[in-house]
Amino acid sequence: MDRAQVPPQPDTDLQAFCEALVAEAKALPDSGKLANYIPVLAEVNPYQAGLAVATIDGQLFSAGDARTGFSIQSVSKIFGLVLAMNRLGDSLWKRVNMEPSGMPFNSIMQLEWEHGIPRNPVINAGAILVADVLVSHYSSSKTAFIGFIRQLAGNEDIFVDDKVFRSEKLHGNRNAAMGYLMKSFGNIEAEVPKVLDQYFYQCSVNMTCEQLARSLTFLANKGVQPNTERVICPRRNAHRVNAILSTSGMYNQSGEFAFTVGLPAKSGVGGGIVAVVPGFGVICAWSPRLNEYGNSYLGMHMIARLTEHLGLSVY
Ligand code: DON
Repeated sequence: MDRAQVPPQPDTDLQAFCEALVAEAKALPDSGKLANYIPVLAEVNPYQAGLAVATIDGQLFSAGDARTGFSIQSVSKIFGLVLAMNRLGDSLWKRVNMEPSGMPFNSIMQLEWEHGIPRNPVINAGAILVADVLVSHYSSSKTAFIGFIRQLAGNEDIFVDDKVFRSEKLHGNRNAAMGYLMKSFGNIEAEVPKVLDQYFYQCSVNMTCEQLARSLTFLANKGVQPNTERVICPRRNAHRVNAILSTSGMYNQSGEFAFTVGLPAKSGVGGGIVAVVPGFGVICAWSPRLNEYGNSYLGMHMIARLTEHLGLSVY
């Protein structure tokens, strides 16, 4: 039988299945490379792999290196976006679009053609724009950002990795170019170095698969944090974030991801991927080696297998 024809298996022992998937992924032939354009990320042990599933009814399943911290990188773009949407309302969408870019996450070409308006908020240019919103609209934007994550994860120990932060700042010339280009079009309010400092800070947050999965369950629950019943964002914003993650969260592999997995998702060059299953929960997979698009090679495998087996696609 074709794998795509295997019927969903709702009675799966999820804990045992997560463990089996991590073992299966770790046994795959070596493939993918560590991100090395941020030198500190290339120092990570490449053979780690973790998987966590946090459900909206409060269960947590995890396996492998799911309690090992890693650099969340672009997964941080979700937290920034939610904060900026809450703060700015619909006027945000005058400054950033909501279309897939079809380009690598750090491409700069499109940004000039499109007059300094980023294609979407989860490519680098869009996230730098979001960082500008936070810097310009919070008196202490770094504290607000890390505080938001700590509250969502229910963990005050979540930290920003200073070594990663400094490495990003030293090697972030392309991001700086995008910041200055947007400023030249009048689409950045604050001073560019301050905006970049915020953006790099956000990328340098260190979290585990378990913490990431737990912290994002509000996106699977119409904006409401399931354990506290706190409204993190209006239902409409949860819908919109999930829509953007569906079309753009896996960069120029988003089409293939929708085709094979079918969930709103976001990756980062630290090797993390989160996938939102509305009405069910959040999956987080992590393994540091990346494919040509900058998405975790083993992370993609684990999420695809889990989703297919449980029939979790939203389509
Ligand atoms: O700005 C950068 O390039 C990195 N801090 C984040 C990029 C990233 O994670 C893209 N993800 N796949």
